[in-house]
Amino acid sequence: MSIKPMVRSNLCINAHPTGCAAMVDSWIKRVQAVRPSIQSAAAKAGKSLPKNVLVLGCSTGYGLASRIAAAFGCGAGSIGVSFERDATDKKPGSPGWYNNREFDRQASLAGMYSKTLNMDAFSNEARAEVIRLAKEQGLVFDQVVYSLASPVRTDPATGIMHKSVLKPLGKPFTGRSVDVMSGAISEISVEPGNDQEIADTVKVMGGEDWELWLRALTDAGLLAKGCVTLAYSYIGPEHTWAVYRDGTIGKAKAHLETTAKALDGLLAGIGGKAYVSIDKAVVTRSSSVIPVVSLYIAALFKAMKQLGLHEDCQDQMIRLYRDRLMGTVPTDEAGRIRLDDWEMRPEVQELTSRFFNGVTEANLSTTTDFEGFRKDFLQIHGFDVPGVDYEAEVAYL
Ligand SMILES: NC(=O)c1ccc[n+]([C@@H]2O[C@H](COP(=O)([O-])OP(=O)(O)OC[C@H]3O[C@@H](n4cnc5c(N)ncnc54)[C@H](O)[C@@H]3O)[C@@H](O)[C@H]2O)c1
Repeated sequence: MSIKPMVRSNLCINAHPTGCAAMVDSWIKRVQAVRPSIQSAAAKAGKSLPKNVLVLGCSTGYGLASRIAAAFGCGAGSIGVSFERDATDKKPGSPGWYNNREFDRQASLAGMYSKTLNMDAFSNEARAEVIRLAKEQGLVFDQVVYSLASPVRTDPATGIMHKSVLKPLGKPFTGRSVDVMSGAISEISVEPGNDQEIADTVKVMGGEDWELWLRALTDAGLLAKGCVTLAYSYIGPEHTWAVYRDGTIGKAKAHLETTAKALDGLLAGIGGKAYVSIDKAVVTRSSSVIPVVSLYIAALFKAMKQLGLHEDCQDQMIRLYRDRLMGTVPTDEAGRIRLDDWEMRPEVQELTSRFFNGVTEANLSTTTDFEGFRKDFLQIHGFDVPGVDYEAEVAYL
């Protein structure tokens, strides 16, 4: 059977096994190509490369790119946790399931320890299993990457399932979004979130679970001296503030930043450090469905490509490892790592605004990099990947 993308409202509900593996392979190859530069940055700074890392949310997007940078750029063994739909012989798995399979295969071929757990990372069972595995393997973690993006979280203390929402605060928001397949631009209106929705979004996407992980690993004695933990966030420009920075998700991300300070206290005894890294807007399964962000990304890509500054997830994580973590870790005044520095350059934002404000359905493909946005969207689901024969028979499993 051949598999075609099934996309509705910027959500792709299937994946191509060979294409996902080819995407992971291409990211691995790009990291392998810059491995010497990561190693020499570490040597220059007198820093050790991480030996073992734990990546929560390891299967797609920034988590996958971090795991590849740690493993294939630094030689680290890794445990990854993600929540993906298994493939069966009758049904395709989710892209992350195929990505994990390819990552584990290549890590094992390269002689690196790699174990991926398909579990709810918010659960105490996932923490217990990671701790059991790490003890069994004699691993202590030099890095813990927290890259979960989820619409729901069941609080292990209460059993209550909380749902996160992407809503503005205070007043309704109206903005434009683009459909990734048809290119149709539609105006969407979102009612403001209420106090309960803010609290729920903070429960899901704030720092509570990050802290539970770090406390559990500390209690189990599984954090190495100097351990670094990272969680990811976004700030972006004014076009996206109503639904992002100033919205319900912004409250959750502010909580993540407060949590980083608490974790600094927890890790002080082992000389460790917690960072929030502000990353650039890229196409992932999570970002594609955020109102306005799709159109902003299409405009941003056009501007950054025009200025020779374009980056995807893997480029960002290469920069994180080589130019941030392996050096003196430059941060902003709030102690955050800034990987959105190129995105936020005035010339990039000026050009992006011009494209974003001037776009219509008629000029979409000339005024923005809509094609680049769509290509990235399809590729993260294993479609439209160069070198893959999409007419060839392929099994789900
Ligand atoms: N995409 C962007 O443009 C962007 C920009 C800056 C920061 N970020 C941040 O990066 C982080 C990762 O986002 P992404 O865009 O890479 O998302 P993504 O959708 O590609 O990845 C999310 C990951 O979380 C995992 N996950 C979700 N629920 C889980 C659960 N219950 N248990 C275990 N794993 C679970 C998924 O399996 C996947 O591995 C988020 O904090 C996001 O806010 C994203």
